[in-house]
Amino acid sequence: MTFSELIRRRRSVRLYSSDPVSAEDLERILKAGLLAPSSRNIRPVELITVTDRSTLEALSRCKNGGSGMLAQASCAIVVLGDTLRSDVWIEDASIVMTYMQLQAVDLGIGSCWVQCRLRSGATATCEANVRNLLHIPEHYAVEAILSLGIPAKVPDPSGEPELTKPPIHREKF
Ligand SMILES: Cc1cc2nc3c(=O)[nH]c(=O)nc-3n(C[C@H](O)[C@H](O)[C@H](O)COP(=O)(O)O)c2cc1C
Repeated sequence: MTFSELIRRRRSVRLYSSDPVSAEDLERILKAGLLAPSSRNIRPVELITVTDRSTLEALSRCKNGGSGMLAQASCAIVVLGDTLRSDVWIEDASIVMTYMQLQAVDLGIGSCWVQCRLRSGATATCEANVRNLLHIPEHYAVEAILSLGIPAKVPDPSGEPELTKPPIHREKF
């Protein structure tokens, strides 16, 4: 698969088969995340892998909508930013998420970004819910959770984007 094909095939996958993501593939995805660049090479992003079914089910209820697929996911990676070590951990964490999503596509694994930062749960923020569940120290922000599983159905790849204005501007806005 060429890189152009890979990025077209990266689609959000929210329905998974009961087949597991192998431990080896999960490690490959983690390593892809660790290869992401970070501002000043501070590397403020830390990752928590979750494979325990009851924890995945609890994570699926961490916010009001958009997280339900975690209950059926084979595993998940919670992406944290150390807010004391970097002021641009959001950017760094987002690149880590993207690298891991692209590595997942290459392995035939479906993934979906579950936004946590700035999102609300039923009685507390999504971040607070995830923090309590996984015992995350206060100075780590919870950016997002990457849901992972073997796709129940592989989505169609994205079509060829058009370089129209907007979103592309040439020379001036
Ligand atoms: C920053 C960000 C936050 C997202 N949050 C969620 C989310 O909480 N739940 C969800 O199901 N999808 C989430 N997504 C996935 C988007 O809905 C999805 O990428 C978008 O609809 C385009 O579809 P595609 O990924 O199949 O190309 C998020 C994506 C990004 C980049």
